[in-house]
Amino acid sequence: TEIQVAELLAIAVTVAREAADTARSMRAEGVSGVTTKSTDTDVVTAADRAVERQVIAALGAKRPDDTVLGEEYGGSGGEDAAVRWVVDPIDGTVNYLYGLPQYAVSLAAEVNGVAVAAVVRNAATGEEWTATRGGGAYRGGRRLSASVQTDLAQALVATGFGYDAKRRAHQAEVLTRVITRVRDIRRFGAASLDLCLAAEGGVDAYYEKGLNPWDHAAGGLIATEAGLVVGGLDGRPAGPDMLVAAPPAIFGPLTELLAELDAAGGP
Ligand code: IPD
Repeated sequence: TEIQVAELLAIAVTVAREAADTARSMRAEGVSGVTTKSTDTDVVTAADRAVERQVIAALGAKRPDDTVLGEEYGGSGGEDAAVRWVVDPIDGTVNYLYGLPQYAVSLAAEVNGVAVAAVVRNAATGEEWTATRGGGAYRGGRRLSASVQTDLAQALVATGFGYDAKRRAHQAEVLTRVITRVRDIRRFGAASLDLCLAAEGGVDAYYEKGLNPWDHAAGGLIATEAGLVVGGLDGRPAGPDMLVAAPPAIFGPLTELLAELDAAGGP
């Protein structure tokens, strides 16, 4: 049966709103259940886990045959499902921890590994970005168009860092060179929101090494549908070693600079 993308988006939006409400009300009660994951700075809270469980249950009730890939609980559901949902219950967990209003629920529906519907909702502010493949990107009712900056030297570029000290050392080295070649750098702390910000021209471009699928599945579609090129280095697709989102005229120069600096290499 034909998969109805509009229906997937409607489900995504409903589920993301409920999830964001949970995240925000749990934050209002104070942060609880803080533990660490890959390193001492990679935190997870009771809210990350509760929100992901809520999303899995809500999707399971509406779409019992689909699979879910989530940040906290990994994969669940059957092997040959037509639709896979990719979930970051709270992207920007460190912001959440500190009460900085820059954390989001990120939810994408993929068909054959390709994102077709996506929503990112800032749980602190209620700002919401959506996209469907081929159908454009929106914030509220407004269709988004990204920056059409043509000069890398004039570009405001967002980035982020992993939680591993060795990787960060490499990322910092790359950054010292990139910052001399662009207008300036921003680091907001939630990859999904960085991509949405790029989608609406709040920054010209964004790059990061070491992202997981749940960090960029939704935001990547939103950025693409707003007119950015999203990919990796040397013609590769965006992946764990590098994601770059940039206006068409800057994508080439930025990926070439990052390749020259071996930004996708290192730990
Ligand atoms: C992190 C944020 C951060 C990025 C990291 C991600 P989390 O996700 O998106 O901005 O730099 O690479 O891991 O851990 O807050 O869900």
